[in-house]
Amino acid sequence: MAMFLTIKVFLLKPNENSKKKPSLKLGKRLQQIEKMATLEEYGHIWDCCCDHGLLGCALLNRQAEATISDTSSNMPVNIVSNTARNKDSDIHFVDIVPELMAELASKLHRFYSSSLNAVIAKNWQTHCLDVATLPLDRYDGKHLVIIAGVGGDLMIKFIEAINKQHNNLAIDFLLCPVHHQFTLRSKLIELDFSLKDEVLVEENQRFYEVLLVSSSSTSDSRENSKVSPVGDKIWQSDSSTQLTIDSSGLSIKNSNEHTIKVSLSQAEIADKYLNNTLNHYQRMQKGFQQSTEQGNQRVKANNVNPDVQHIIDAYRTVTLPILVS
Ligand SMILES: C[S@@+](CC[C@H](N)C(=O)[O-])C[C@H]1O[C@@H](n2cnc3c(N)ncnc32)[C@H](O)[C@@H]1O
Repeated sequence: MAMFLTIKVFLLKPNENSKKKPSLKLGKRLQQIEKMATLEEYGHIWDCCCDHGLLGCALLNRQAEATISDTSSNMPVNIVSNTARNKDSDIHFVDIVPELMAELASKLHRFYSSSLNAVIAKNWQTHCLDVATLPLDRYDGKHLVIIAGVGGDLMIKFIEAINKQHNNLAIDFLLCPVHHQFTLRSKLIELDFSLKDEVLVEENQRFYEVLLVSSSSTSDSRENSKVSPVGDKIWQSDSSTQLTIDSSGLSIKNSNEHTIKVSLSQAEIADKYLNNTLNHYQRMQKGFQQSTEQGNQRVKANNVNPDVQHIIDAYRTVTLPILVS
C-alpha cells in the first residue's frame, strides 16, 4: 500500500518531484534486475511471474520519471514522447494467478491511468497466463523477458517453450533463479544463447545470480560472450569499489575506533557464494555416495541424490580475486 501511495504523490506533483526517484521499496535483488533492464533498448518488457508487480512498477516509474523530466524542458508531452526520446517500452505484467492479476490491474488503473502523462498511462498491460505461452508475436519490437523469483528448473521450461514458439525472434532474457543455477546455465549453453551481462547479488544472506542473455548467438551480439556453466564475471568483481555503508552490513572499527557499518564487499560475496555452492553440492554428493553404497533403489529411482561430481569439479575451477583485508 505504501508503495502505491508514493506513486500517487509522484504522479500528481510532477514538477515538484521530477528530480526525485520515486521510492519503491525494492530489495537489492530486484534493484539489480531493474538496473539491468535498459528501457531504451526494448519495445516490450515482460515482468513474468510478477506477483504484486513491484519490478514492473519500478520500470514504469523510471519511464514516468524520464518522461516528466523531458516535459519539464518545456516541450509538449506529445512532441517529447515522439521525437526527443525513443518510443517508450510497454511493460507487460504476467502471472498465472487470476486474483493477483485482478488486484494488480485495479491498482495500475488507479495510479497510472490518471497520470498527467497520457503516454505512461497506456504503457502497461496485465496478462493472466502461463509464462510458457507468452504471445510475443502479437507485439512488434524487441522483447525483454524478465523471469525472477522461481527455480532454474521452471525457468528452463519457460525458456524452452518461448524459444520454440518464437524461434524467428531474437529475444533477450533477464533471469534471476532462486536455485538450480548450474542446470539453467547448462540449458542456456545447449540452446546456444549468448551472455550480455551477469551479476552476483547478496540479499538477506542469500545469493542470487542475475543473467542477461540473448537467444541470438550471432547477429547483433558482437559484444556478447559465451555463457559459462558456473559463471565468469560474477566471480571477478572489484572489491574496493563495492564497499558501501549499509546499516544491514557487518560492524567493523575504523582507525579512530569508531564503529561503522559496511556491507559485504563484492569479493567477499563471491567468496561466500562459492563456498556455499561447493558445500551444497558436496553434501548432495555425499548423499549420492551413501545411497549408492546402500544400494537404495528407491532413492536412486527418485533421483533424490543424483551424481553431482561434475558440478563440483566445474565450481572447483573458479578462481577468485585475492581478498584484501
Ligand atoms: C515468488 S513470486 C516471484 C515474484 C517476483 N518475480 C520476484 O522475483 O520477487 C513467484 C510468482 O510466480 C508465479 N508463477 C508460478 N508459475 C507460473 C507460471 N507458469 N506462469 C506465470 N506465473 C507463474 C506465481 O503465481 C508467483 O506469483
